[in-house]
Amino acid sequence: MRRVAVLMCLGGVLPAFGWGPEGHNLVARLAAARLTPAAAARVAEILGPGVTLASISSWPDQVRRERTETAPWHYIDIPIDKPHLDMARDCPKGACVVTKIEDFEKVVADPTATPVARKEALMFIVHFVGDMHQPLHSSDNKDKGGNDVKLDFFGKPSNLHSVWDSGFLGRMGTEDEMFARLNPDLTRGRMKKWGKGTVESWAGQIHKVAVKQTYGQLPKAAPGEQIHIDAKYEQMADALIKTELEKAGARLAFVLNSTLK
Ligand code: ADE
Ligand code: ZN
Ligand code: ZN
Repeated sequence: MRRVAVLMCLGGVLPAFGWGPEGHNLVARLAAARLTPAAAARVAEILGPGVTLASISSWPDQVRRERTETAPWHYIDIPIDKPHLDMARDCPKGACVVTKIEDFEKVVADPTATPVARKEALMFIVHFVGDMHQPLHSSDNKDKGGNDVKLDFFGKPSNLHSVWDSGFLGRMGTEDEMFARLNPDLTRGRMKKWGKGTVESWAGQIHKVAVKQTYGQLPKAAPGEQIHIDAKYEQMADALIKTELEKAGARLAFVLNSTLK
């Protein structure tokens, strides 16, 4: 534990796991506000009294170390030099975020599955629909989704993946302030538009955004220097993160409303 704390103090040394708790809470809170009465009742039944979607939204990150087989379930490495997602290439043995969301949708909807299996399936879905909307969880440049790209984040050493997981969000205000900014924006029209397609097509869309913006607009490093995140890139990231969290919230509601009838 001490060693872990020391490593964490060094900054960005441990691999990053997904949106930080704040991002996952926001996605869960957006979705919870948009569940049908039937889906909300089923969610309450599955989770048990007093347990909210937000309270379990980071559970898969807490078990990731003990349940090592779950580590690749949090992302899909779609290469940025390829135009499209190819499930055979990018989701080996079905161990990626897209296939796992689809697998767990079946478990949560299966009345013969055990209560524990259904609860875990629901907790994985809530987390993974959020994760896949972090652009670096649906793209890769042979750098573990940016984990290997060291950079300077406003004077602190970090890496590209970590700043997209939680660095930018951490500078955008408190969770409640963010929620207030996201909440009124989720109109019915956008809900309808974003709900269209499949989990696979959503990953394809996020990959395109990552190619164009997350990787494509990354400031270049001067020779022998580290990349410095600048204000222009941060503005782009903040706007994109806001939209991706809204999409994730809308799509999570869509998934739960259609699987928990
Ligand atoms: N490890 C390898 N690829 C990754 C990604 N895209 N996101 C998080 N961890 C990873
Ligand atoms: Zn995760
Ligand atoms: Zn991550």
